[in-house]
Amino acid sequence: MSTAPRTPDTPTDDRLPVTLPALADKRERGEPIVMVTAYDFPSAQVAEVAGVDMVLVGDSGAMTVLGYDSTVPVSVDEMIVLARAVRRGLKTPFLVADLPFGSYEASDAQAIATAQRFVKEAGVDAIKLERGGVAVQRARAIVDAGIPVQGHVGLTPQTATALGGYRAQGRTAQRALDVTRDALDLQDAGCFSIVFEAIPAAVADAIMERMEVPVIGIGAGASTDGQVLVFHDLLGIYDGHSPRFAKRFASVKEEMVAGVRAYAEEVRAGTFPAAEHTYSIDPDELERYRATLVPPAGIAWGPGEEM
Ligand code: KIV
Repeated sequence: MSTAPRTPDTPTDDRLPVTLPALADKRERGEPIVMVTAYDFPSAQVAEVAGVDMVLVGDSGAMTVLGYDSTVPVSVDEMIVLARAVRRGLKTPFLVADLPFGSYEASDAQAIATAQRFVKEAGVDAIKLERGGVAVQRARAIVDAGIPVQGHVGLTPQTATALGGYRAQGRTAQRALDVTRDALDLQDAGCFSIVFEAIPAAVADAIMERMEVPVIGIGAGASTDGQVLVFHDLLGIYDGHSPRFAKRFASVKEEMVAGVRAYAEEVRAGTFPAAEHTYSIDPDELERYRATLVPPAGIAWGPGEEM
């Protein structure tokens, strides 16, 4: 394979690493915050070079790169492998990782221990957890332990079954109030930012009037302070169901399939590898080498001559 690439020289080279105050400043100035998910070294490099502000090692990686059929089964160990790879590909964006389902709900101690693993073992800047309710107390505990926390309300995929499936939330007055309460509770708990997922734009607009921290939307309209999309959705790599908010900005999977298909065709046709893909050897060295080679088939080796 190719030798390991270093993070390429890019216009991002003169950018300073994105910090919590920088994110708050962007919100103050009304400058949209751009967040994207990444799950490995190459996707992190793409995010770096593209100049995004925040990168999320989302537990969506359970589906997009690990092939599970939901985010629920992914383990902390699996997420940490992904987060470590992303860390190695990033210099500038603020890095957040999702705490997976079942790794923080049971107690404050469990939540702090899991969050600490992501910071110590993967070098993330912050963690994200889903829902209001018990997650609010866990968020407070992690913040008190010195780790920045991003909340996530509305459609929370880890508990999609309890929400009636992967569907927009907050579409009745009562459910809109539930989402509002969750967002405000997480803000009060000290979250530095909240993700709003799949809620009506008008509900997001109303909650935004009460928010004092950067809000990142996904399927929540245009009034949030920033937007996040799943890398594989926006690039057209993932084939699973895509929600209406997952705008596709490229068709990378088609390109990938076309590339592998062309390679397979050339191997089968004998046109790859060509001369320019092969190495040469000095003719004298080749002659010496051939002289010591196994005799042609059917001719026995003399004693002690085996290679
Ligand atoms: O896991 C994920 O990718 C997420 C984003 C959709 C916000 O939580």
